[in-house]
Amino acid sequence: MVINDLCESNKFIQTNKFKINKEYRLNYHLMGEFGWINDPNGFIQFNGSYHVFYQHYPYKAIWGPMHWGHAVSEDLIKWRHLPIALTPDREFDKDGCFSGSAIEVDGRLKLIYTGHIYTDGNKNTGYRQVQCLANSEDGINFSKFSLNPIIDTDEIPQAISKSDLRDPKVLKINEIYYMILGTTVDNKKNVDLSKNGAVAIYKSLDLIHWDFINVLASSDGNMGICWECPDLFTLGGKEVLIVSPQYMKPQGNDYHNLHSTIYMIGDLQINEGAFKFDEYYPIDYGFDFYAPQTIIDDKGRRILIAWMDMWGSKMPTQDRGDNWAGAMTLPREIIFYEDRLIFKPIQEIIKYRKNEYKIEDVLLIGEKLLDITGESYEIIVIFEAKNFSEFGIKLRVGEKEETVLSYNAMSKIFSFNRDKSGIGPKGIRNTELVLKDNALKLQIFVDKCSVEVFINDGEKTMTARIYPSAFSNKIKIFSKGECNIVTFHKWDIG
Ligand code: FRU
Repeated sequence: MVINDLCESNKFIQTNKFKINKEYRLNYHLMGEFGWINDPNGFIQFNGSYHVFYQHYPYKAIWGPMHWGHAVSEDLIKWRHLPIALTPDREFDKDGCFSGSAIEVDGRLKLIYTGHIYTDGNKNTGYRQVQCLANSEDGINFSKFSLNPIIDTDEIPQAISKSDLRDPKVLKINEIYYMILGTTVDNKKNVDLSKNGAVAIYKSLDLIHWDFINVLASSDGNMGICWECPDLFTLGGKEVLIVSPQYMKPQGNDYHNLHSTIYMIGDLQINEGAFKFDEYYPIDYGFDFYAPQTIIDDKGRRILIAWMDMWGSKMPTQDRGDNWAGAMTLPREIIFYEDRLIFKPIQEIIKYRKNEYKIEDVLLIGEKLLDITGESYEIIVIFEAKNFSEFGIKLRVGEKEETVLSYNAMSKIFSFNRDKSGIGPKGIRNTELVLKDNALKLQIFVDKCSVEVFINDGEKTMTARIYPSAFSNKIKIFSKGECNIVTFHKWDIG
């Protein structure tokens, strides 16, 4: 088998996709058809349809030489797979077509991505990364630009890493194209680590010839050693920079995963290629959220989608031989509100609701098993705190399994506990939350092996993968002390 051949990889998927074990396959989230997926790439609305490409190794449920998988959707919920768009088959991308973005020029779709090339036997250190271009007339078939790479290793200035320069996001501002790239710079401040995460910015008039402008932004010494997958946009009149820092150290309750995702609201001086920021915040407070990409769509919405997994975290569908691994989050709309970003589930999900269940105004003391079950559903619940110490909801409850979301009034901490969630990785993520009018509103999406929690209308989100048995499908609400369930809504989704 010619492993990097486009036709071969598409044929391989079509002949093998029936060998997938469906037990944990999600019902309303984007996954690959076979094998491994990670970051969303090239997220774009093109000719009215939403396209998401993704990092993909089609042959096995492990990370391998990266291809670009491709899916299209009319509503961001139901996805149709298209043929693989890129395979690592040229000198300039021979060891992987790494992450990147898409842009439309004169009605044609262009992909800008990183070519990954190993330079010696040590794959962890011996590599270089160059930037490449591919063009498409129809948005389905892509041909690589004959003069790739468009940014070669000798076009990388002294200030930034010669090996880690990847994940181009291309933007057009006032007729000029800008490319931002994740990288690492020498660290003057951080004593523990020798590198600081950073974003480099280049500019071009034709997408082919690129000039380095500057290091757009970099870590203050506490924000990871390499920044991956940068994104930059304006929202509510403010400039926002998103990056996924590698190996960021925990700060209080935040940044407890191997890698993190943060946003900064700052001041962009595009001519100087400078983004100044004072504060940064986690995008998601759960376990499994990485490498998001955003677009603005024709309804004017800023929409984000991310990989719903985490590097270094065990993925049971790999170990069990299920022939697939990796999924994307539900697309989320980003809104600028009171100097912060809030995240809401994309509203198209509403039309997939069925079998409504509703209770109202229930005084809760102790634990209550609800007479509903499910594996793929949405819940909206509003708790009103009374004399309580702790209250919350238990999802995917079975004889020995449960996933617990709880709020503790004394500590003002909201927790996601997956210690008893099944065969996946365990642990607790905590986040501070101050209630307004004593109310806690949770909008929760459960889908077979995922949970996404939107807390108080998107003030914070927590995303996690869980792997309970199919029999663990019950739902409980509980309160140590008194609390009022103002409303509890559940819909099956699918
Ligand atoms: C982020 C990342 C990117 C890289 C890709 C490789 O998850 O490490 O920086 O381009 O994945 O698959």
